[in-house]
Amino acid sequence: MTQEIWSKVDEYIFDALIPADPTLDGALAASEEAGMPSIAVAPNQGKLLHLLARMIGARSILEIGTLGGYSTIWLARALPPEGRLVTLEYYPKFAEVARKSIDAAGVGELVDIRIGEALDLLPGVEGPLDLTFVDADRVNNPAYFEAALKLTRPGGVIVIDNVVRAGAVADPANTSDEIEGLRRMHELIAAEPRVDATALQTVGKKGYDGLTIVLVTS
Ligand code: SAH
Ligand code: DHB
Ligand code: MG
Repeated sequence: MTQEIWSKVDEYIFDALIPADPTLDGALAASEEAGMPSIAVAPNQGKLLHLLARMIGARSILEIGTLGGYSTIWLARALPPEGRLVTLEYYPKFAEVARKSIDAAGVGELVDIRIGEALDLLPGVEGPLDLTFVDADRVNNPAYFEAALKLTRPGGVIVIDNVVRAGAVADPANTSDEIEGLRRMHELIAAEPRVDATALQTVGKKGYDGLTIVLVTS
């Protein structure tokens, strides 16, 4: 009784609190149709990102890892009309699918999709940022955290997805580049006097993973 009940409870949460949304469902369908991986955040996680952005009055958002634009749409919908969101994606084909879905969601004017290797694109991202969502390869998360921190105003937030990887992060036998990248990122966060942070394990339709949430304090 693990994955089955996690999925049931996710369905319960979606039914209880997150009304079906044809635009967001359409973005997922377009990704699937294009043969892209089904690794967008779950609806309750997308809504968490959206609420965090609203809670801090975010006007400037960075996302690393666009995929089909699902989380991008959740985040962009939190922005005021003069807000902006820059999202970084390696694959031009993914960016193209995302572009269509983001435009169809009516937030196209707010969203700038930049195509390439995130490490190459980050130096061109303009601050100050209110919120960064890190959701790409975990290997480079230490560098993504450092780049986001440099750009984020005090009171801003950095959220990192996929930080638990079904428990692998706490398994000393796992020394893969991905998992070592996550550990190194948490070491950097812990040693950084300008931030305060926590991490949450998450279960649900998407399995067992986690989110790290960082507040930039100064
Ligand atoms: N944020 C999306 C999911 C992102 S999946 C959502 O929740 O809807 C991870 C994405 O990061 C993939 O599209 C992948 O192509 C992209 N990615 C992975 N490594 C990258 C890199 N080094 N530079 C830029 N994009 C990268
Ligand atoms: C996977 C899940 C994600 O949320 C992601 O951003 C990348 C990969 C996965 O389960 O493989
Ligand atoms: Mg993710």
